[in-house]
Amino acid sequence: MTNAFKGKHFLTEDNWTKEELDIVFKTSFELKEKFYNEEPTLHLPHKTLFMMFFEQSTRTRNSMEAGMTQLGGHAHDLTPDKMQITHGEVVKDTAIILSRMGHGIACRNCFYGAGKKYLDEMAQYSKRPVMSLQDDVYHPFQGLADLMTIFEHFDKNPKGLKVTISWAYATTHSKPLSVPQTQILLFPRYGINVTVAHPKEFPLSKNIVEKAQQNAKVGGGSLKFTSNMDEAFEGAQIVIPKNWGGFGYYDVDYYLQNEDACKKEMKLNLEKYKSWICDAKRINLADKNVKLMHALPADRGNEVTDEILDDPNISIVFDEAENRLHTAKAIMALTM
Ligand code: CP
Repeated sequence: MTNAFKGKHFLTEDNWTKEELDIVFKTSFELKEKFYNEEPTLHLPHKTLFMMFFEQSTRTRNSMEAGMTQLGGHAHDLTPDKMQITHGEVVKDTAIILSRMGHGIACRNCFYGAGKKYLDEMAQYSKRPVMSLQDDVYHPFQGLADLMTIFEHFDKNPKGLKVTISWAYATTHSKPLSVPQTQILLFPRYGINVTVAHPKEFPLSKNIVEKAQQNAKVGGGSLKFTSNMDEAFEGAQIVIPKNWGGFGYYDVDYYLQNEDACKKEMKLNLEKYKSWICDAKRINLADKNVKLMHALPADRGNEVTDEILDDPNISIVFDEAENRLHTAKAIMALTM
């Protein structure tokens, strides 16, 4: 395994060149094959990863912890209430201390206007690699697993593939913007043609959309937007129906100063769009071999019907979830 990436932070794919990402994917496929063959992959013997979760997680937490075990190391599963963060210990001190005791730090902090800043400050002070387990802007591990799944089900060169990312109704919670934002930044770098559908009150962040348009120009893909979910599904080869909160409707500073009022307005806006669901009628508008992807957890019956999510000819969501393990192992093995 190359040590060219040892110490490199993994906060967004945008800080990794396409050539570097190609090595990450190659490593992910090798690790996946060895996992299936039950061959040992002890690339990080006796090493320690500190994982800090400010929010709940099933896939991210378990892919990282199981991944560290399978690489021969150990992951500490930390939450702020187990740490002095609750008593006000600052991010700089936390990062310096953890990076002097182990070999990597991974953190999920999705608070709007705060998460990415927290991760960036950790990276500034940690002498070990810092990995984002999702923040308010990016979810880079999800992006890797998504693209690996596309490679598996379509082609390692998915140039020209038509992928629709659509906002969808959900009652669970205001999900961060980070999954669709990571996808629009990453997919067009591989020549994928992405269509994003969303109601006007649920836009993605303007600066990310601008960066994604630049990425599309360089990568040969494309990025377009519509406020019509049916139109976005027409001819799509992959559909990703997913809720996200209306954070992008507000300037970050305005949101932080008026958080309660914004949350109330977001709730009212949400209720206008209950018909934004991925169901059989919409799937019939897509390509006849269309595949459904979703980062999960899915809000069944709201974002997508059970009929579609459980259809083995359409849904590849569990392959996508499993690939969180193989891609997580690749990043940890390469950077730690
Ligand atoms: N997709 C994803 O990040 O899942 P978790 O929130 O369960 O980690």
